[in-house]
Amino acid sequence: MKPILVAGATGNVGSQVVGRLRARDVPVRPLSRNPPPDGFRGDLANPETIRPALDGVDTVFLMLAGSAEALVPTVSLLGERVKRVVFLSSGAVDDSLTEQDNAIGAWHRTVEEAIEATGLEWTFLRPHGFAANTLGWAPSIRADGVVRGAYGEASMPLIHEKDIAAVAVEALTGDGHAGAKYVLTGTRPMTQAEQVRIIGEAAGRPARWEEIPLDEARAELLTKMPDFIVDTMLGGFRGLVTKPGEVTSTVQDVTGRPGLDFEVWAAEHAAAFR
Ligand SMILES: NC(=O)c1ccc[n+]([C@@H]2O[C@H](COP(=O)([O-])OP(=O)(O)OC[C@H]3O[C@@H](n4cnc5c(N)ncnc54)[C@H](OP(=O)(O)O)[C@@H]3O)[C@@H](O)[C@H]2O)c1
Repeated sequence: MKPILVAGATGNVGSQVVGRLRARDVPVRPLSRNPPPDGFRGDLANPETIRPALDGVDTVFLMLAGSAEALVPTVSLLGERVKRVVFLSSGAVDDSLTEQDNAIGAWHRTVEEAIEATGLEWTFLRPHGFAANTLGWAPSIRADGVVRGAYGEASMPLIHEKDIAAVAVEALTGDGHAGAKYVLTGTRPMTQAEQVRIIGEAAGRPARWEEIPLDEARAELLTKMPDFIVDTMLGGFRGLVTKPGEVTSTVQDVTGRPGLDFEVWAAEHAAAFR
């Protein structure tokens, strides 16, 4: 069996993809800039560094790392060298728009369009918010059990990274996924305040949400992310207060088993919040 190249192999999703492929005895080439000892060193923004890892590879798990524009030359190289790409895109992409109306959707759509232009067999995974995003709250939960932010009533079905990886592995190894755009979500929408409470329960110490003025929350987020991401994120949260994120059945449809609840993710990651 030919090896599958897994980009972002040390990340939340990529590491799970590597583990699941290995559990099926599929040979894997993990790739990142700081790879594990058995992995390949490569920068997705520099196709020449990826080239050696592509020898004998037909199938690639690709993710967006750095800017979308920087990834386009690497996508062209894949078009020349491999047959199938499964791309970790984003639920922010809206097919009803010719021009995406937010930065995150626009980035991911740029890469999707580049992949479509290659003629490769492709599958796009379009997850909404990752459960792993809540790890950003770990320092404040550890410090005093309080998460301070805006839009605590924003409600969304966060997805476990294992579920994204499980769908990825089906698309990498199975048939019938070419041309699919899989919108992936968790099992039920829950507010940010509820997510904090569930994490506290899993960690064995009470945790609560504290609503703070929007400009304070924005200033805090700007210490971690660029302004266009922060504003896209906050705009998304504002909408999710009145209209909770929808749940899709794609994880169940593709893998044949239900998705994992946020409670499962919280129990698995409880140590990070203690
Ligand atoms: N978070 C969300 O809610 C959400 C929602 C929808 C879609 N997404 C998509 O998911 C992605 C994040 O996935 P994740 O959480 O699994 O990632 P992650 O945990 O942040 O890991 C990123 C991985 O990519 C590697 N990497 C980063 N830059 C690289 C480069 N230039 N060349 C090669 N490898 C590089 C990193 O290793 P090195 O640093 O060693 O290179 C690491 O293995 C986002 O970028 C977005 O496209 C996220």
